[in-house]
Order: sequence, then structure tokens, then C-alpha cells
Amino acid sequence: MDIEKEIAERGENINLLLESYLPEEVGYQKRIFEAMNYSMLAGGKRLRPMLMRESYHLFGGSSQAIMPFMAAIEMIHTYSLVHDDLPAMDNDEFRRGKKTTHAVYGEAMGILAGDGLLNFAYETAATAFEMEPENPAIGKALLVLTKKAGVYGMVGGQVVDVEGEKNLDDVEMTRERLDFIYRLKTGALIESSMMIGAILAGASEEDVDKMEQIAAKVGLAFQIQDDILDVIGNQEELGKPIGSDEKNNKVTYVTFEGLEKAKEDVARLSQEAVQLLESIDADTEFLKELILYLIHRTK
Ligand code: IPE
Ligand code: IPE
Ligand code: MG
Ligand code: MG
Ligand code: MG
Repeated sequence: MDIEKEIAERGENINLLLESYLPEEVGYQKRIFEAMNYSMLAGGKRLRPMLMRESYHLFGGSSQAIMPFMAAIEMIHTYSLVHDDLPAMDNDEFRRGKKTTHAVYGEAMGILAGDGLLNFAYETAATAFEMEPENPAIGKALLVLTKKAGVYGMVGGQVVDVEGEKNLDDVEMTRERLDFIYRLKTGALIESSMMIGAILAGASEEDVDKMEQIAAKVGLAFQIQDDILDVIGNQEELGKPIGSDEKNNKVTYVTFEGLEKAKEDVARLSQEAVQLLESIDADTEFLKELILYLIHRTK
């Protein structure tokens, strides 16, 4: 399998799907639509909708109801980036190879565009109820989507991340605390993606739990690699500044464990995820290759 080609093709299809869900730029509030669409269409790997769709197909899903959820998870992820880049958070000026949303539209519009995307994600996901009013899996999927994005998920992780900056109060970073941050700030949306795919396809509770475990490993590996790239990456390729963590005095996996151990752990966690996937009786080829490909990603 030419994994890079497969990823690119799937990414293109996801871009088309996203475009079909984005708001029209009309009305008195036109500016927010422009800012939302700017951040959504600036690029991005589309990893979360990709993982969602693959997980869906893995368990034999074949309806259209997955589509609004794929759009919704990317909207939530994009909003998290728009807010993560704000001056009060990581204060970064580049994202996905372009100026950050607040840098182009101003801080107030950056905040509102993030709020807009988060809410629009739920408006979008809820259209699945109209598509299949009798399908009980849609309510379950929506609960996972909301919970993993909120204070028990991504937002919760960002809170502890912000408090973990050196110099800020006297929080002492421990490995346990670091794992908590990563599991939530990055793992939660990846868990959400893979769980929702499985839930909408009608997978058993046991299999949904397994997907959550697999995704937790993928998410942790993904964030550790993000930290590694913040140190040794190339801004041009990454599409965002390197050295952002150092600038913000962040304790990261790399500063905590060292670069070599961080690299080893990305590989180990990814291999553990692949091993768990092997216990699922389905064609997991693409997902496995995708997870292994991410070990060496440079963007
Ligand atoms: C960046 O996510 C933020 C993290 C959780 C590490 P991605 O690396 O998936 O960003 P895009 O969507 O490709 O821009
Ligand atoms: C971000 O972690 C995780 C989010 C929930 C947005 P980072 O702050 O390391 O992400 P980047 O490096 O800015 O993409
Ligand atoms: Mg951050
Ligand atoms: Mg950041
Ligand atoms: Mg980072």
C-alpha cells in the first residue's frame, strides 16, 4: 500500500465533505463566517475525520450518518487550535501554513470564530438525527462527541496544560500530571473520533472500549511527536512555529523525558496500538499503516 498516496486521497475527500458543511459567508455576521471558513480551509491533515471514517468502515458502517460527525470533529479540533493560538494561550502567529485566525481577523473575532465553530459542530452533528431519527447510536455518538471535547476531555486537558507552564503558580509537573494533560488535550478528540466511528457502525460495547484504548495510545504518541517536532521540526513543513513550547515555558514530554526516550515512546505506543488493532476481526490494514506512518511524521 502506498500509504502517503492513500492518506492524500482520503484527505482530499474529507476536504470536499468539509466544504459542503461550511456556512455561507452572508449576512450582518459575515465576518465570523469568513473567519470560521478561513481556519477550516487553511489546510490540516484531517486526521480525526480520517480515523473516524476508517473506524466506521472497520465495523461495517455504510450510511451517510457518519458524514456530519466527521465534519463536526474537524470543526471542534479546528476551534481548539484557533483558541490554542490566541495571545492568552500559546500566542502563536502561524498555523497550517498561514497566519493564525486572530492574527488576520483580530482577537475578538478569533475568540468568536472558535465559539462559532464549536457550536456549529454540534448543529452539524445533530443533523444526523434528521437523517436517521430511529437510530439510537446517534444519541450515543453525540454524547461521546460532547464529553470528549469538554471539561472531561480536551478543554480539561488544556486547563492543566496552561497551569503547567513554568513560572505560573507553583504547580510541580509530574509524569502522572503530564500523562493526564496529554490524554485529555490531545487524546480525547482522537478517542472521540475512533469511538464514534465504531458506535455509529453498531460495534459492541467491548469493541468501542477497545477503540478507545487504541485511540488513547495513538493520541499520546501523536502529542509526544508534536512536542518532538516543536524542538526538531521545520516550520515551513509543519506550518506552525517551532519553539512554541519553549517560548511559553512549557514542561513537555521532551523536556521531561528527553528527546531519545520521547522518540522511543512514540514508536512503542504506536506499536502497542497496532497490536491491539490486530485483535479486531476486520480489515485493519490502512489504519495500522496510518498509525505506523505517524511515528515518523514531519508535519
Ligand atoms: C495539532 O493537531 C494539535 C495537536 C493536538 C497536537 P494536528 O497536528 O492534527 O493539526 P492539523 O489539523 O494537521 O493542523
Ligand atoms: C494543543 O497542544 C492541543 C490542543 C488541544 C489544541 P499544542 O499547543 O502543543 O498544539 P500546537 O503545537 O499548538 O499545534
Ligand atoms: Mg497549547
Ligand atoms: Mg499550541
Ligand atoms: Mg505543540
